[in-house]
Amino acid sequence: MIEKISPKDITVLSSTMLIPLWAKAVEYERPDAILHDKEAARMLDMIDYDFTPFAKAKASQVGCCGRARLLDEMAQRFIDEHPDAVVVQLGAGLDARYERMGRPNVTAWYDLDLPEVIDVRRMLLPESSNHYLGVSMFDESWTDTVAAHGKPVLLVIEGVLMYFEEAQVQAFFQMVQRKLPGTQIVLDALFKKMVGRAQQHDALRQMGETPPEFRWGVGSADDVLKLAPGSRLVEEIGLSSICAPRYPFILRLLLKTRWGRENLDMRIMRIQL
Ligand SMILES: C[S@@+](CC[C@H](N)C(=O)[O-])C[C@H]1O[C@@H](n2cnc3c(N)ncnc32)[C@H](O)[C@@H]1O
Repeated sequence: MIEKISPKDITVLSSTMLIPLWAKAVEYERPDAILHDKEAARMLDMIDYDFTPFAKAKASQVGCCGRARLLDEMAQRFIDEHPDAVVVQLGAGLDARYERMGRPNVTAWYDLDLPEVIDVRRMLLPESSNHYLGVSMFDESWTDTVAAHGKPVLLVIEGVLMYFEEAQVQAFFQMVQRKLPGTQIVLDALFKKMVGRAQQHDALRQMGETPPEFRWGVGSADDVLKLAPGSRLVEEIGLSSICAPRYPFILRLLLKTRWGRENLDMRIMRIQL
């Protein structure tokens, strides 16, 4: 029998990467899947972790897959516009976007996460023609690697920014504006109501009594743009646009109202920084 990999040396924040991995692996089994990620299903089987408590997290299961799909689509549109792009997925965790998108033939594709996460990622999903960077996204050093290509840059950041304070998100955007001018970024932004409520989140609350807290949320795209003066919204869509048919009835009803869309719908955005 093959020995399973135990992600024991990673922090609680980094272990949140197991939630979208689980969500994508479950989705892969569905005949009506909104995302097809065979690498997720393969990796899940290789990890020594009890995923059974997540079975109750139905909204997160479809939500993680919906946001991945919408971000894949936005990333693809950027690549279509800039076939020579350099793509960097920040806080990549165990996401197999490069493989899922068919290994796009761009100038370079980087997957970046903290060093201990990259170690686990290498065991489960070794680099092919992409490159891994084991460094914090707040460390400027990776921007020099990316800038050296001298090509249009796309940053993909999914399920990450909501765990940081607004001041950290602002400092990050401003570092990118300074070091990689003209960059576009695709991201998911949590709605304000969830800030401080990780214990009420259907999947995070399965991770023990003190799950990593949500610290940053937005009311609209303007709350993102104001953190990076000179930035511009390229496109935006609500997560419910793809997930609503699988949400519980009451949430579907609320999302038909303006209040529901403003307060309960995660926003997926492409921004020119
Ligand atoms: C919820 S997971 C999302 C993983 C992946 N983006 C996905 O959607 O499957 C959050 C990720 O952010 C990473 N992360 C946390 N702090 C980071 C930092 N300072 N620099 C880079 N990545 C970080 C964690 O290690 C973890 O992989």
